[in-house]
Amino acid sequence: MKKLLSLVLALSMVLGVICMAPPAVAAEKKLIAITYDDGPGPYTERLLDGLKKRGVKATFFMVGTGVASYGKTVERMYREGHQLANHTWNHPSLTSLSWSGVQSTVQRVNTLLDKVAGKGADYLVRPPYGSYNSSVASAAGAPLILWSVDTRDWQYRNATTVKNRMLQDAHDGAILLLHDIHSTSVDGSLAAIDTLKARGYEFVTVRELFRRRGASLVNGQTYTQCKPNGKDLGAITAPKISTVAESGKLRVTITAQMGTTIYYSTDGSDLNGQSKKYTGSFTVSTPCTIRACAAYNMNGSRSDIVEEKVTKPTAVTPTLRIENDMLVVTGTNAGANIYYTVTGEGQTGEQQVYTAPVPIAPGSTVSAYAESDSYLTSGTAKIVYSPLGNVFRDVFPGQWYFEYVDRAAAGGIMQGMGNNNFEPATQVTRGQIVTFLYRASAAEAVGDEAADSSFSDVEQGKYYTEAVAWANKNDIVTGYADNTFRPDRKITRQEMASIFSRYMKYKGTPEQSGTLESYTDAGDIADWAQADVAAVTALSLFKGDAKGEFRPTATSTRAEAATVLIRMQELLDAGDEPPAE
Ligand code: NI
Repeated sequence: MKKLLSLVLALSMVLGVICMAPPAVAAEKKLIAITYDDGPGPYTERLLDGLKKRGVKATFFMVGTGVASYGKTVERMYREGHQLANHTWNHPSLTSLSWSGVQSTVQRVNTLLDKVAGKGADYLVRPPYGSYNSSVASAAGAPLILWSVDTRDWQYRNATTVKNRMLQDAHDGAILLLHDIHSTSVDGSLAAIDTLKARGYEFVTVRELFRRRGASLVNGQTYTQCKPNGKDLGAITAPKISTVAESGKLRVTITAQMGTTIYYSTDGSDLNGQSKKYTGSFTVSTPCTIRACAAYNMNGSRSDIVEEKVTKPTAVTPTLRIENDMLVVTGTNAGANIYYTVTGEGQTGEQQVYTAPVPIAPGSTVSAYAESDSYLTSGTAKIVYSPLGNVFRDVFPGQWYFEYVDRAAAGGIMQGMGNNNFEPATQVTRGQIVTFLYRASAAEAVGDEAADSSFSDVEQGKYYTEAVAWANKNDIVTGYADNTFRPDRKITRQEMASIFSRYMKYKGTPEQSGTLESYTDAGDIADWAQADVAAVTALSLFKGDAKGEFRPTATSTRAEAATVLIRMQELLDAGDEPPAE
């Protein structure tokens, strides 16, 4: 891998290109886990407000007596994505208890926390006073989480001291020890969080700290921190809920990042480890509230919860077609009403209800949507029946190129890109431009035998083969010095100017002696293109942009190509008219 990398680097230096490979894993961030012990208490709600405002997730090592008194606070903690963890029922020194005594004081809290996180959730344990031995570790039946930064907040009871000690001792991968039963710890830690975030720390739960670094937490083992190891598996992104109407109900699809489990509810209930696990799309009756989150572990290793309130399904956007001078609308839900408007020449523009195909005349723009009592309004579909009889879905009257595109399409010079889409913003290739010119020229077909342009990269039987041969024979294109034509390359404006200038000469237009003075970037125009750009400027086929720039190496869109082609035809047609008396 290293060898390959240096080869690539050497190559890119030789070629003078910058080679940017995407990183295999997210850039490593400074991660830190803040933990609060001995609560919940009277200041915990204020702490939760502060954490929420800062988007910070913490881990709470709680005593059972606190959990029993502050049940609503624990529910909120969990709902807001903090990790619930166990600090025993009533804070004994565990080394003084029997094996079963340890098990009992831990289990009692787990049972209470299960009411919030769901039966069978797992909780990290922190032994009171950090006091443990191998018997305690085995009886607790969980990883034992200690700390690497002790603020001694319980001793100082001073917000500034708490803040300063956090700032002084914080390090990447640290587990910080605080106590939310002290008001000063709440204030001091929130102030320190702001500074540490500004220093590039991301606050995560203990479980996320280890998961992000690909480290495991094993029952019976003790942990004080999770040092940086070059890995960061990245934060968990929230899932996406999408809905589509299906015979009076709503089909719900939820997507989330690989490896996570999606938990969801459709009855407005809070999510926990006992919520439904998503296995595939499902239908619901409306109205309802859908909640979902993506998790490795619902207790402390999950995304934010996304919520979608659905009163009724959204109708499917109808599909419009113009067939034999009739407007045909299909494709929305049975039972949804279709409303349409026709504007344009001789049309009223009033909204009408669609029941059957409607006669329609060129020069009309139709827009339509669907809705009813049981469906929310769909998106709006639009279709244009142009004055020259083209049908477009993506070109509309009022756009600067509308008339040119309409004429280019009606004259057969340019064709649509399928399904009535003209794709006005798509870039034009060299092969396409020459093909458009060939069609515009109405030249005698070159024929198969003669369709040999001698360019090494123009194969027989391509849509452009005959056009390129014709253009080459008539000196409209000369190709590149290496005898290639590069038909699939996006054409630059100076190449296009050159081709159009040569075409005008082929058509017998007198030599033009224009200047490049009008362009502020005239110096960027290649030597070989200067006379041609001056000529097409004199003919008003090309103009500068709003800044007065010609932009010689910029590419062109299909809308721009249509405009130049039609202007050119106008010029040639004017030249064909008999001179005025
Ligand atoms: Ni404690």
